[in-house]
Amino acid sequence: MAQIDKTKPVLVTGATGYVAGWLVKKLLEEGLTVHAAVRDPENKTKTAHLDKIAAQTSGSIQYFKSDLLAEGSYTEAMKDCELVFHTASPFVTDVKDPQKDLIDPAVKGTQNVLETANKTSSVRRVVVTSSCAAIYTDAIDCQKAPGGILTEEVWNTTASLKHQPYSYSKTLAEKKAWQIFEDQSQWDLVTINPSLVMGPPLNLKATTSESFSILKQLGDGTMKMGAPKIGLGLVDVRDVAEAHFKAGFTPTAKGRYITSGHDTDFVEMGKVLLPKFGNKFPLPKKALPKWLLMIIGPITNKLFTRKFVRNNVNIPWKADHSKIKKELGVTFRPMKETMEESFQCLVDEKVLG
Ligand SMILES: NC(=O)c1ccc[n+]([C@@H]2O[C@H](COP(=O)([O-])OP(=O)(O)OC[C@H]3O[C@@H](n4cnc5c(N)ncnc54)[C@H](OP(=O)(O)O)[C@@H]3O)[C@@H](O)[C@H]2O)c1
Repeated sequence: MAQIDKTKPVLVTGATGYVAGWLVKKLLEEGLTVHAAVRDPENKTKTAHLDKIAAQTSGSIQYFKSDLLAEGSYTEAMKDCELVFHTASPFVTDVKDPQKDLIDPAVKGTQNVLETANKTSSVRRVVVTSSCAAIYTDAIDCQKAPGGILTEEVWNTTASLKHQPYSYSKTLAEKKAWQIFEDQSQWDLVTINPSLVMGPPLNLKATTSESFSILKQLGDGTMKMGAPKIGLGLVDVRDVAEAHFKAGFTPTAKGRYITSGHDTDFVEMGKVLLPKFGNKFPLPKKALPKWLLMIIGPITNKLFTRKFVRNNVNIPWKADHSKIKKELGVTFRPMKETMEESFQCLVDEKVLG
């Protein structure tokens, strides 16, 4: 594929989101015209930070009212765009009805956006924000992967409506994207598959991303007796934005890209915050024993089923991030910097103590 024309508008779905915010910032700084597809363009608490960035950069932003479940609602936003970033998808774990709250918006939304791309002759590349959740469900899946490490070849086969439905929604949505891509030849598809995203939000007050519920629990005393040593990957939100940008504008970008800076776990994520914040906040300092979590987990947190504890606690997480480093030149910030800056935001915004 030839280079994307930077004088043409670029569509970002879910532009109000935590991850999308940093991508929109990068696009505006590069002088691009951003078509921001959002559910409610009138809701200034969700868009004011983007307007402010646009005013300070050479780029410009235009809002379009779009909903993942409203067929055809991305048509106007996509008009004249060569490049589409599809980031919108619910990232919540505490839901009443997983089919309605997660699977439908993720899968039907992806179908809606990509079928609109099929009808919009200007579109040449689509970058979908998938997730490592489309690669694995539980840390134990790493052990079952070839060579004991997650790669772009691996697909999530263990999530379901009943077990980790968010991961199921991301798996089905990415599969849908590849299926729609296979059936046409007008545009190419690249997916960015981040692990858990952390780093300062551009608009903490309005963020609904699950990333911040997790961070908050590290500092609000929920884990003061210790943290479950759950293996997971971590990546900085600014590195994820850079990855999207490069996936959009590098002609040779191809396929899936694991976007994960660090193989880590909850205990290490807490420990890295101790030198700077340990005196003021009840951060976890040690791991809770697995046997104890098997007993108290299901009582204290409905996500901590016995199956979840068995498959994640004390199990290391391992993913290969060499493809994105080699092909797109993406580098990853140190974890300490990411964690400290995210936590500082919660302190500054008085979300904690
Ligand atoms: N954060 C992570 O750790 C992480 C890791 C891997 C992948 N991801 C992926 O990154 C993307 C962004 O997530 P995030 O963390 O930035 O979460 P977020 O801040 O909650 O952003 C989600 C976005 O999706 C939009 N959205 C949700 N339901 C919608 C609907 N029915 N119609 C239109 N828009 C809808 C939201 O719009 P409103 O503002 O209107 O609610 C919001 O802009 C998602 O695809 C997520 O799966 C996130």
